[in-house]
Amino acid sequence: LAACDSGKSNVLKIGTNAEFPPFEYIGDDGNPDGFDIALMKAIGEQMGVEIQIENMEFKSLIGAIESGNIQGIIAAMTVDDERKKSVNFSDGYYEAHQMVLVRKDSDITKAEDLNGKKIAVQEGTTGDFVASGDPDWEYILGTSLQNTEVSRMKKGLDAVIELKNGRVDAVIIDSNPAQVFAKENADDIKIVEGIQSETETYAIAVTKEDEDLLNKINAALKTLKENGKYDEILKQYIEQ
Ligand code: ARG
Repeated sequence: LAACDSGKSNVLKIGTNAEFPPFEYIGDDGNPDGFDIALMKAIGEQMGVEIQIENMEFKSLIGAIESGNIQGIIAAMTVDDERKKSVNFSDGYYEAHQMVLVRKDSDITKAEDLNGKKIAVQEGTTGDFVASGDPDWEYILGTSLQNTEVSRMKKGLDAVIELKNGRVDAVIIDSNPAQVFAKENADDIKIVEGIQSETETYAIAVTKEDEDLLNKINAALKTLKENGKYDEILKQYIEQ
């Protein structure tokens, strides 16, 4: 943990973007909570270090590692070749996919219907890459989206509000937050059941400066998967 600039070598600064339930959100006490936060704290406990969570915009996370302000990221972050140029990824800890949200009266039923449509996303996310027709991400919906108009929001919830207010036709976002938002706004929006997506893998991003830290995080993750603690956290936050 040499690169730790908190002054305390037993503190690990981990960035998140607490706008992505059930993985990370602001809890009732005003602090970040969620599956990722609980998992990261358990990893810290296993490693004998204190985890200090730094909440910031999703698109600022990678830069914060590069500038040494944080040593890692847990933010439902998908393993991605472009991101790998800037960070190391731990072993995967969750498999997710993309979902498309529309208003209840929408006639969008398949991925191709999104061509030429207005789509809101959280800025810098894989949903953004898919909506923007990024060739590296067209495998996700099995088609390269054409002529979309993409509204890039700071928060996932803001994308949902754009949809509810009729300013966009659809939202593309990860499966678990999509289900949370669809449930909370069930009078107005729905998941397009006919659109199937390939899977993405979430992993913890770690500074490239510290190979040892990556190995320790992987070892702790492995222990938590073996000793049942990972499943316990999964039940608490996701499989309720
Ligand atoms: N899995 C997607 C990605 O890596 C979205 C993650 C958004 N996470 C967040 N905490 N806001 O791009």
